Amino acid sequence: INMIFLGPPGAGKGTQSAYIIRDYGLVQISTGDLLRQAVKDQTPLGKEAKMYMDAGQLVPDALIIGLMKDRLASPDCAEGVIFDGFPRTIAQAEALDSMLKNDLKTEITQIISLNVADELLVERAVGRRSCPKDGKVYHIKYNPPKVGGVCDLCGGTLTHRDDDREETIKNRLKVYHETTSLLKGYYADSGRFYEVDGEGNPDGVYEKIKGILG
Ligand code: AP5
Ligand code: ZN
Repeated sequence: INMIFLGPPGAGKGTQSAYIIRDYGLVQISTGDLLRQAVKDQTPLGKEAKMYMDAGQLVPDALIIGLMKDRLASPDCAEGVIFDGFPRTIAQAEALDSMLKNDLKTEITQIISLNVADELLVERAVGRRSCPKDGKVYHIKYNPPKVGGVCDLCGGTLTHRDDDREETIKNRLKVYHETTSLLKGYYADSGRFYEVDGEGNPDGVYEKIKGILG
């Protein structure tokens, strides 16, 4: 399996990826997580990416494609990959096709588009909290930790992402509708494109995804 999760901010791509990793043993590559790590480490990439992320804009293709090329060079990718939040532009999709074909001698097996209405997405992002140590994701209402503000796994203090403020989320949604959603057309005729309703509870959404992955 080499699958792409397509979907707006807060659709549940990260949440569903955690279930898939548990059951299918795939490797998750989230460009958002890689970028946030680069920002934290204050690398040149992180310094350049930060202003785009804080504004809810896409980081330029050249930076993202370079980041992905490095990540795909790692041997663990042979296990099969979940691409989470990448590609987001047609140029990224074309670059991914060629990297998989030429460097890894493989291809995308499923593209799953998670669909959720904008009103729900704002609420999901505003209420999201995550653990800086292990990356586990919570929601203050829909998936709260056992003890408020504290990670179930490690006891660490949960944090709120800088770009999860309402104004920034609205920009991220706009960018999604104007640019990233065009990828549905790019993949529509591949015979590997699936749309999934992402509005139910996470377990119900996962059942539908399992039906596609087999
Ligand atoms: P990125 O980190 O990729 O963010 P995103 O795509 O906006 O997606 P999110 O992480 O917000 O949402 P998700 O779908 O993973 O939802 P989650 O499972 O956490 O990108 C951030 C930024 O980096 C971009 O704005 C851009 O600047 C840059 N960037 C990244 N990749 C790039 C690229 N390829 N090109 C250019 N720039 C790039 O769930 C959200 C919340 O809802 C959680 O609290 C969760 O608990 C809850 N929840 C999940 N499922 C359900 C459910 N079924 N019911 C109720 N609540 C639920
Ligand atoms: Zn933790």
